[in-house]
Amino acid sequence: MPRIELKTRRQVAWMREAGLVVAQIHRALREAAVEGVTTRELDAVSAEAIRAGGAHSNFLNYYGYPATVCISVNDVVVHGIPGDYRLQAGDIVSFDCGAWVERSGLQWHGDAAFSIIVGEPWIDDAAFAAGERSADYGDDAASSSLPAMVKRRQLNDVTRESLWAALAALASGRRVFAVGDAVENVVAEATVTFGWEPGIIEEYTGHGIGTAMHQEPDVVNFRARGLSPKLRPGMVLAVEPMLVGGSIVTDTDADEWTVRTRDGQDAAHWEHTVAILEDGISVLTAPDFGAAGLAPYGVTPVVVEG
Ligand code: MF3
Ligand code: CO
Repeated sequence: MPRIELKTRRQVAWMREAGLVVAQIHRALREAAVEGVTTRELDAVSAEAIRAGGAHSNFLNYYGYPATVCISVNDVVVHGIPGDYRLQAGDIVSFDCGAWVERSGLQWHGDAAFSIIVGEPWIDDAAFAAGERSADYGDDAASSSLPAMVKRRQLNDVTRESLWAALAALASGRRVFAVGDAVENVVAEATVTFGWEPGIIEEYTGHGIGTAMHQEPDVVNFRARGLSPKLRPGMVLAVEPMLVGGSIVTDTDADEWTVRTRDGQDAAHWEHTVAILEDGISVLTAPDFGAAGLAPYGVTPVVVEG
């Protein structure tokens, strides 16, 4: 197995700097993602936030990728390319982006994603942890309360919950496969609550991250057989569950990036970069290191000081 890059505390602090820039990009995108804006305009918002943060884009030019953010609308699972599309009220949209900072002659990367439903109120991590759910809005929501919209909200909520459950599982788990086990448990419970089964995408996974955006190991989101690498202090992972409303079969558009569900059902995607440390875990792309999101699991994150 190729070796996994273990970071020193100082290097994790550098990754935190990249993570804070990613959090700033997210905040800017959340504010700008309103009905009628084009996804190309949102890429410009992302690029400006990266520049203002004194960082660099790790997405732009990655294997020729043409933007600083992936914006994936409705049936697009991942890697949607910004363009002329104007967001419509009720679209479910994921924003996946990252940044790197240079320290001691190396690149230190952050990578995170979130999904929204355009026109609906943002639920912050503390409110989400306290049990607030977009699926509860029903008729009062900005968009209609058609069953399809309720399912869409449930999909976004369960994907977000599966991310936090997976991050929390890294605090007590022994191996990387703790992530997939946690996601499966959340999905199994949601299946009972919702009366429909969210699908867990298998072809795209989380990953190690550090001096490059994508490193060993793969971090799968489903329950897998066999042994995965042991969690060790200094490991940093990008955990990124992608869930869908139907079948997990996907196709890639002729642009060779845009990944869609074959059955046209919705997709949602949430991601954070998390460090495994001697004294616990630290969510580097969350402004509060994940304190609010992890609280329901009894996990208090490590505050990494620069
Ligand atoms: N964050 C994405 C991932 O980890 C990376 C997208 S690569 C890009 O899968 F080229 F699309 F930017
Ligand atoms: Co990633």
